[in-house]
Amino acid sequence: MKVATHHLRCTECATVIGKDEVSSNFRCPLCNGLYEVVYPWTNATAGPESRLPNPSALRWLWQERRSSSMAIDQSGVWRFRDLLPIVDDLEKVVTLREGNTPFYDLPRCAKAAGIDWLLAKHQGMNPTGSFKDTGMTAALSVAAQRGFEWVACASTGNTSAAMAAYAARAGLRSIVFIPEGKIAWGKLSQSMDYGALTIQLKTDFDGCVKILGELVKQFPIYLLNSVNPYRLEGQKTPAFELVEQMEWQVPEHVIVPGGNLANSSALAKGFAEMHELGLIPRIPKISIIQAEGANPLYRSLQENGGEQLTPVVANTRATAIRIGNPASWRKAVNALQTTGGWCEQVSEQEIALAKAEIGAEGVGCEPASAVTLAGLKKLVAQGKITAEERVVLILTGHTLKDSAYTIEYHRNELFSDAEKAELSVSEQSRHAALRKPPIVLEADPGLVLRTLESHMNQPQPA
Ligand code: F0G
Repeated sequence: MKVATHHLRCTECATVIGKDEVSSNFRCPLCNGLYEVVYPWTNATAGPESRLPNPSALRWLWQERRSSSMAIDQSGVWRFRDLLPIVDDLEKVVTLREGNTPFYDLPRCAKAAGIDWLLAKHQGMNPTGSFKDTGMTAALSVAAQRGFEWVACASTGNTSAAMAAYAARAGLRSIVFIPEGKIAWGKLSQSMDYGALTIQLKTDFDGCVKILGELVKQFPIYLLNSVNPYRLEGQKTPAFELVEQMEWQVPEHVIVPGGNLANSSALAKGFAEMHELGLIPRIPKISIIQAEGANPLYRSLQENGGEQLTPVVANTRATAIRIGNPASWRKAVNALQTTGGWCEQVSEQEIALAKAEIGAEGVGCEPASAVTLAGLKKLVAQGKITAEERVVLILTGHTLKDSAYTIEYHRNELFSDAEKAELSVSEQSRHAALRKPPIVLEADPGLVLRTLESHMNQPQPA
């Protein structure tokens, strides 16, 4: 298939520029807006040169590629390359065989949320353990093609892990800026393991973004934060996979965590393009869930309908989404408005309970991903999601990303006494039933047996 060209369009003032005209901070010089990638066939006003790929041919081709031995066919991003023609030379694609992530049913979580049917698309099952890999293969491939030697990002830990890995594969050098003391160890260890220059700044994520913004103006460093629109081209592909895994049926709802607020719009773009191409008859409602302590989008929607965003000083144990001044908030508002979804906020205790419930299904995820289930419960309680509607949670990170959180939770050391006191009796018993602290025993067979017997008689959580 012929590789189509693409342009970049400002999502605020709609100015279209050539792919090589973008500045190093990926901001529109006229209005400071962020760009999105557009193709001849994604633009309703496209001229006669736009040729829409044929939906049935695409479905067949994408499935067929899964059995090929070529690396780009085995990638769950690049097997959809017909809808992301962003690199001219496919030989130069940098891939770790990302994507093709599993789809799990969560019957006990569905019951806890009060609905009949719940599925999770587990993006934590990517090569570096988070959804960032799908975006990084795309943007890093562009960086490699354009001859950059250095790439950089500011991160709460997952973007940096993914960038470090893909840069290493491509033979590029990478610089990671992370907030000191505020990222999970698993993620910090990854950027070192993959050989990045890791800089822990004594500030938060928002402070790291500021410093990096200054740097890219002065050095030829390719910026790989999610303001880079090529990241989102990769991150739209889980939308394709998701409906493919549902035999081209569309769920009523997709729920994502919200941090820097790019992923919601990436998925919305994926669904919108499939709809435009006739691959799906409608698009699902995309809802975004934030942690109460890092809720700038939620607040903005409550206070001014999403017209303006007032940054907050973010604080949550779900460190991946500890972001107070999200770059892509306008894109997220647009995704909510075009799909008809909602934004909710959830407490630390609600996040912990949801994480334990997802873990107890044998699936597991990192804390930031669990906000999706916690938010689902709220949307169901408010009557926005009904029992028979089909819901897909996007689990964004692997449970091993933040094992310290999990251990503290199960040892009942995660929350302060004041936080514990906020729990109702039924919430307390739900937590108690899920908590599985390790038991330390003397190596005495009698004692081990007696302990096991007492545990075997305890009921399992429903
Ligand atoms: N879930 C996880 C596990 C994340 O790492 C992130 C973002 C999000 C959800 C939120 O996605 O920013 O597109 O709204 N992590 C970034 C990072 C900020 O640096 O790894 P978003």
